[in-house]
Amino acid sequence: MKLSKPSKSFLLSTGILTGTLVAATLVSSPNHKLAGVPTAQAATAAALPITTSFADPTGFYLTISSNGDNVPSNEFFHPLGTNGRACVTCHQPDEAWSITPGAIQAKFNATSGMDPLFRTVDGSVSPNFPVCTVQQRREAYSMLLNKGLIRVSLPVLGSAQFSLANVYDPYNYADADHLSLFRRPLPATNLRFLTAVMWDGRAVGGNGSVTDDLEAQAINAIATHEQGAVQPSSADLAQMLGLETNLYTAQNFDKAAGCLNAGGAAGGPVALLDDDFYAGINDVAGGDPTGKAFNSNVFTMYSTWSTTANKNPVLAAEASVARGERIFDDRQFEITGVGGINDVIGIPSVPGTCSSCHDDPTVGNHSLPEFLNIGTADAARATADLPIYTFRNKATGAIVQVSDPGRGLITGNWADIGKFRTPILRGLAGRAPYFHNGSAQTLDDVVDFYNGRFNIGLSAQDQADLVAFLKTL
Ligand code: HEC
Ligand code: HEC
Repeated sequence: MKLSKPSKSFLLSTGILTGTLVAATLVSSPNHKLAGVPTAQAATAAALPITTSFADPTGFYLTISSNGDNVPSNEFFHPLGTNGRACVTCHQPDEAWSITPGAIQAKFNATSGMDPLFRTVDGSVSPNFPVCTVQQRREAYSMLLNKGLIRVSLPVLGSAQFSLANVYDPYNYADADHLSLFRRPLPATNLRFLTAVMWDGRAVGGNGSVTDDLEAQAINAIATHEQGAVQPSSADLAQMLGLETNLYTAQNFDKAAGCLNAGGAAGGPVALLDDDFYAGINDVAGGDPTGKAFNSNVFTMYSTWSTTANKNPVLAAEASVARGERIFDDRQFEITGVGGINDVIGIPSVPGTCSSCHDDPTVGNHSLPEFLNIGTADAARATADLPIYTFRNKATGAIVQVSDPGRGLITGNWADIGKFRTPILRGLAGRAPYFHNGSAQTLDDVVDFYNGRFNIGLSAQDQADLVAFLKTL
């Protein structure tokens, strides 16, 4: 079921659609008011107009609230548990509604690692690491500081088709009842476009609607991340969901290409408000409930920009973005060895594009709640700071090694090990690093990964164009 579509009246009344407010609320990174202050103060400092642009490394992104929900009073910004954390602790409006290493380090330095973000329950590499001295805290919170990773702790189901045969945990904590899964906080914005909640889709509410899933997610977040002792009231839940499900975030201005809605382009979050969405829209495998065939042109925001090289630096940058958009939609490569695709259809190699998996038009997630294994959790790709889990198939004795079993831990299905959700691709520039485990530090690293993994054969220019495009999402 979909979340309701926003009305434009609020936006018109605030001047967002006419651009006046956007210009008035541009803030640059030195003004990042939330960095480096304890959450108790951050909750007040976060009381910025929600319609605010924030600087990121390549320009500015803009968040708009379609219902005008006001920030200061919302429980999203208030600690509801016992450890001083609020939702905003890990979903910061000025870090693209996630958290990012630069701001985390600044916060650590400003508070000597005492800010509520730094809590051993899931902020440290193991709950058993000592955190008495600043140096101990630096070590204990290294995954947060280096890659913005939170330790999600989940058990292997007794009913699973596999058992845990071996654990290599550099932090000497994980076992079958508490796997340590180091994951990036997903942005708490653009949620109207979701069909599954969390990297592994594990947040599931009563009636199977996304709203129910988000409610279950919020209850769980308060109990775990915030170490809450009491269930939130339904009024508090409604308030938090009212905020997060009405937010739209996208890059709005690019340092090289300029305003992303200039020259007939439809970049920025305003166009997202009207974006049609339902589960299965433009499904690549023919699952669109309206019967419409898949159209690989998932992104067409920059179709009015010329793709031809130009001496004018802004026009040249626009052309690069427009070419990158074409590469995303049009450049074919062979999709091989992807769990959830090749094994399901029984064909070892199928031609596809970036938009085959990222098939939701103008948003870029997968429009059905499906999970795919593209190899990001393969043991062979794991950096030394990640645990490695060896699973044995109870029926066949087969062995697989991953740093995070993803969807497999939720369903207990052997075939689901290593599968993750195909995430929303808007507001990317403000939320590095990428992939569930932060293994790609930059968008260049993301494209490097795909170019190698799928043997795409991108030239240096193609890669630069594709990255320039991803930065404008
Ligand atoms: C300590 C950090 C932390 C805190 C505090 C926190 N979150 Fe999260 N949040 C995360 C992480 C990490 C994930 C991804 C976990 C996963 O997928 O396994 C996440 C995922 C989410 C998602 C899923 C988004 C999507 O695209 O599926 C939503 C929604 C969300 N959080 C909302 C909240 C709310 C509401 C609160 C407060 C009640 C909250 N979070 C508190 C770290 C945090
Ligand atoms: C076979 C399916 C598939 C194809 C093809 C594919 N992706 Fe992905 N993409 C995924 C999945 C699944 C994830 C999440 C993986 C993870 O986090 O472990 C992802 C994640 C990403 C992310 C990271 C987003 C974030 O929030 O961390 C970016 C950026 C991205 N893809 C861009 C691309 C581009 C560009 C292409 C084409 C070169 C592409 N994808 C092709 C399935 C695919």
